[in-house]
Amino acid sequence: MLTLFDETKISKMNLKNRFICSAIYEGWAVEKGHVTDELINHYENLAKGGVSTIITGFAKIMKFDQPAPNMNVIYDDIFIDEYQELTNKIHEHDTNIIMQIVHGGPKWGPSAVEHLVTKTIPKEMSKEDIKEVIQAFADAALRVKKAGFDGVQIHAAHGFLLSMFLNPYYNKRTDEYGGSIENRGRIIFESYEAIREIVGDDFPVLVKVNCEDFMDEGLNFSDSLIVCDKLSKMGIDAIEVSGGSYSSKEGEGPIRGNVEVKENESYFKEYAAKIAEMVQVPVILVGGNRSFNIMTEILNNTNIEYFSLARPFICEPDLIDRWLSGDKDPAQCKSCDPCSGVNNCIQILN
Ligand SMILES: Cc1cc2nc3c(=O)[nH]c(=O)nc-3n(C[C@H](O)[C@H](O)[C@H](O)COP(=O)(O)O)c2cc1C
Repeated sequence: MLTLFDETKISKMNLKNRFICSAIYEGWAVEKGHVTDELINHYENLAKGGVSTIITGFAKIMKFDQPAPNMNVIYDDIFIDEYQELTNKIHEHDTNIIMQIVHGGPKWGPSAVEHLVTKTIPKEMSKEDIKEVIQAFADAALRVKKAGFDGVQIHAAHGFLLSMFLNPYYNKRTDEYGGSIENRGRIIFESYEAIREIVGDDFPVLVKVNCEDFMDEGLNFSDSLIVCDKLSKMGIDAIEVSGGSYSSKEGEGPIRGNVEVKENESYFKEYAAKIAEMVQVPVILVGGNRSFNIMTEILNNTNIEYFSLARPFICEPDLIDRWLSGDKDPAQCKSCDPCSGVNNCIQILN
């Protein structure tokens, strides 16, 4: 029988258990683009709590792109030394740290289609813009490696730029970056290729993708399977399966309310299980993972190998140590019943 405390490997990275802290943008992570003591303390606190691997909140790869205030940044070499300080601290606790890199895309998009929620209309990217973004992903990944991170995760989920390219509602292009799923996925495949080329074969490169966008004309599951299959064949080291975005239908985004989580834990498990059946690389399930027993059951009845959690670690950074000590009560998002959404999480973090 497999257990959640098995020691495993993703590429050459050792994991002391199967629990991962999924990316959590904190909003106070950096001040004027620089690493702060709060940031280091926050991640060190998590590392002390027993999780095998921390994925940082999203870090921007281009200076002008700003999907959220005070987010992590990795668009310039000047940030390498500061993040080296962070990774050194986390490694003292026998914990891996992976940086998630993103292009937010509020100003740039695959097509000039009004965003359903923000009502902004992005500039339709030229092919030169696309090449610039691909290069920025590669340059950022190299900085991530130089800063001592154990791996890099490409954020291709939740409606940010790469996810918008996958989404036929937002991507109306008629060139090789639009139309078929092979074309809509091309910017992701080319970004992955450019990253791999620059970081080498041994450095773990992961991706976070949506199983579905949960909106009319969004990315559907059969297309998501094609993207995962292709990335697996290209050599991606692990796929984190999420779903939805701000444009999703009510209640169907990546962060679902506590009521739904209680009734329907691990809410993307059917999708992730099908992806894990098909691909040749480890699959990480995210979204509503709360109970030790349910995750153990999924681990033993599907090919899903890892479980990432976000909100439980906001309330209880040492959750994994509690479980390791034998206290297996489910994690609780204690202050948020019913769930008030991401803003409430950010208030708790502050
Ligand atoms: C405050 C907050 C910030 C988040 N920031 C990110 C992020 O930077 N990148 C990302 O991919 N997902 C982000 N997420 C989504 C989580 O990684 C995760 O996919 C989602 O919360 C579902 O997992 P959970 O039910 O364990 O919270 C964030 C979630 C929360 C609550």
